[in-house]
Amino acid sequence: MIKKGNLYYPSKDFQKKAIINNPSIYKKAERNPVKFWEDLAKELFWFKKWKKGFVHNPPYFEWFKGGKINITSNIFENNPLGFDKIKNKAALIWEPEPIEERPRILTYYELFREVNRLANGLKDLGVKKGDRVGIYLPMIPEAIISMLACARIGAVHAVVFSAFSPHALQVRLQDTQAKVLITADGYYRRGKIIDLKKNADRGTKNTKVKKVIVVNRTDDKAYPVKWNKGKDIWYEDLTKNQKDYCKPEIMDSEDIFFILYTSGSTGKPKGCIHTCGGYTVQAKFTAKWIFDLKQDDIFWSTADLGWVTGHTYSCYGPLLNGTTFIMFEGAPNWPVPDRWGQIIEKYGVTTFYTAPTAIRMFQKYGTDLLKKYKFETLQILGSVGEPIDEAAWKWYFKEIGKNKCPLVDTWWQTETGGILITCLPGIGPFKPSFTGLPFPGIKFEILNKKGEKCKTGEHGNLIMLPPFCPGLLRGVYKNPKKYLDTYWKEYGKEIYFTSDGALKDKNGLIRIIGRIDDVIKVAGHRVTTGELESAITKLHFITECAVIGIPDEIRGEIPVVFIISKNKIKDIEKQVISQIRKEIGPIALPKKIYSVSDLPKTRSGKIMRRILKKLFSKEPLGDLSTLANPETVEQIKKVIIDK
Ligand code: WTA
Repeated sequence: MIKKGNLYYPSKDFQKKAIINNPSIYKKAERNPVKFWEDLAKELFWFKKWKKGFVHNPPYFEWFKGGKINITSNIFENNPLGFDKIKNKAALIWEPEPIEERPRILTYYELFREVNRLANGLKDLGVKKGDRVGIYLPMIPEAIISMLACARIGAVHAVVFSAFSPHALQVRLQDTQAKVLITADGYYRRGKIIDLKKNADRGTKNTKVKKVIVVNRTDDKAYPVKWNKGKDIWYEDLTKNQKDYCKPEIMDSEDIFFILYTSGSTGKPKGCIHTCGGYTVQAKFTAKWIFDLKQDDIFWSTADLGWVTGHTYSCYGPLLNGTTFIMFEGAPNWPVPDRWGQIIEKYGVTTFYTAPTAIRMFQKYGTDLLKKYKFETLQILGSVGEPIDEAAWKWYFKEIGKNKCPLVDTWWQTETGGILITCLPGIGPFKPSFTGLPFPGIKFEILNKKGEKCKTGEHGNLIMLPPFCPGLLRGVYKNPKKYLDTYWKEYGKEIYFTSDGALKDKNGLIRIIGRIDDVIKVAGHRVTTGELESAITKLHFITECAVIGIPDEIRGEIPVVFIISKNKIKDIEKQVISQIRKEIGPIALPKKIYSVSDLPKTRSGKIMRRILKKLFSKEPLGDLSTLANPETVEQIKKVIIDK
């Protein structure tokens, strides 16, 4: 890497070999973004070519209108790379959590047959195009097979993170009205077996789920599976006698491909709708260009399939590019803190894509642990999910990338389907704590409250202008109002509002400041204060509560909870914790819970979380004249100090 001032550029050698290395691509794409995406789309296999690239009826829009496609045909038999060329190449290398267990390698051809068998199995169960299928699986190959099998037959998958609680699963299954759920008996996490089937059984109560397909992951090692006769079916039994070819469903470009839920501002999560054509184009080319994917690469995105990064870069992106990628079942620091380092060396990983929270955790273990690693195979590093601060950026760049790998900090959202802001590895520049430039063909601006463009260095709201990106969400499942209110209200129907605060430097590089709504990013996972609050106030003895996100050294942000209860309740904190576990899952557990007698409010009754944040971090409170009850401030201060 070459350093010029505070900017880093790829070495001449890296640049020469990179797929995209000429900055003129930005100008070219800017001149006609629709044509730019259409030219890329032409590289894919379409059953029928689209009639119009982009159609805009604000706030609705379509991409590749009239085109017919199936993502699995583009991964397998009609892969533009030539299926014969990649057939017997490893598609995915699965590393189980238990060290003593053997990895599983699936070639593209093997994966193809597995996908077809399950696709036929799903058809036998009556699943048809457009039907929703819930997937509640750990990081095992069957999770990818399940997603692809749905895509093969045009069923809409709704993947639910396996560490989500039964309640979180149930809410999503109810919203999608899925008739089939694919789950597993259990999985390994930090040496323990988690009884996933039990959670699945609870989560399918009061839903429309008629059939539960169960993958045998743990062979009854920890828990005998409770079997619901007539409802449950082993994955193995469903697939073993199926034909290994299933005709791909011909999907319209704008047919729903999948639904992925993300936390909503109230208790109810939002089902982001993604469509077949646009998502496929964006997933393929963002993965190819941003990670410079070449045929001999070994790509590892550590994201769980339950999140959007898992969908696009731990599954579809690498597969569309015929790449070999790693799938890891466990936690990166189990059973040894450098398990992740062992995996990079073991498989010769060339691209490592992870979240700042993991980087900070590795950093905390100290560099001594890394002395034995040279990481010679690594060529590109990536970061995603939350802002990466300068110290973590530099540590990652030096200690893991050995000062030679471009570090692509990638900004995007569940809503955008794929990465939208980052610098390309063969072009740069890379600047610590700045995500970079909009991807070619994408138009971002930073606006102030009045809708005027911010000056260099000025904070404002990050927004995207038409024609947006092909993979942008098309709606919130069964909630058109939410779609309008969340994304198309702040600046009108032609401007996509990201809910992120940002600024630009003089080079046009964008720095993300963080969310300006009530989303908090706990270890990169998206939760809202609203959903936590509504989970907590379901406890009948809690009359009111407020949740804030406070900075955390490792996890980025972490919730802190303030509660008001009717009377003194024994073990109230334990009850709040178990309630969050039950309603959401362990990812959202708070750092502290404070019992208070009142919460700071405006005269119109709005809780001032901003004041709570300042009280917690012991910052000056500023003007309190808008508070209806300023006396609470002193009381809360005392509670915080006393605890
Ligand atoms: C944040 C994750 C800073 C941002 C792909 C966004 C980031 C939210 C970055 C979406 C980054 C994501 N730098 N912040 N590189 N990437 N974010 O839906 O606040 O889980 O709006 O998608 O994460 O989170 P989501």
